Amino acid sequence: MDEIVYPSTLTNGKTRDEIVRLLQKRLDEVRFQHCLRVEKTARELARRYHEDVDRAGLAGLLHDYAKQIPVADYRQLIKTGPYDPALLVYGRGVWHGVVGIAYIEREVGITDKRVLQAIARHTTGDPEMTPLDEIIFLADFIEPARTLDSEKQARKAAKTDLTEATLIELSSTLTYLVGARKLIFPKTLDTYNALLQRSESN
Ligand SMILES: [Fe+2]
Repeated sequence: MDEIVYPSTLTNGKTRDEIVRLLQKRLDEVRFQHCLRVEKTARELARRYHEDVDRAGLAGLLHDYAKQIPVADYRQLIKTGPYDPALLVYGRGVWHGVVGIAYIEREVGITDKRVLQAIARHTTGDPEMTPLDEIIFLADFIEPARTLDSEKQARKAAKTDLTEATLIELSSTLTYLVGARKLIFPKTLDTYNALLQRSESN
């Protein structure tokens, strides 16, 4: 594989190696390897859909940076604001995107709004998801180590239709959450409704 180099304007001067080392400090090996695969998958999707390959790659690489931050740290951060206290009833599954970007800004120094937004939205979706947001959301779900039927189905759909593939992922995730009697973040349901209407009007 050709070596990936990110423009320093996007990383505020950090090299990819430096970013990788920071990521490794925050994650166990399994999660770290997942991030490398999501980076690669996100770059491929961006190429396919004519989106910014470096923004997609960087967001893919860092999407789970804050996945293993201690729960107590998250609670503390949410309580001190400026976050909606309603977030407290959810867990790291939601927090590591929406709240996790605070750690990425502070510790990695990434300030690019589109990169941070895509990372923020990868745990919740958003009714106004951009193609870059969809790419990160989806790359997480279809990276090569994912083998469930819904993941394979989304991977296939992602070859031709980004929103359709995103809908397959949303449908699968919501079905899982209901089946397991887990809370649904309202914005995720709103995202499903919005994308379904968007896809039906096409
Ligand atoms: Fe994640």
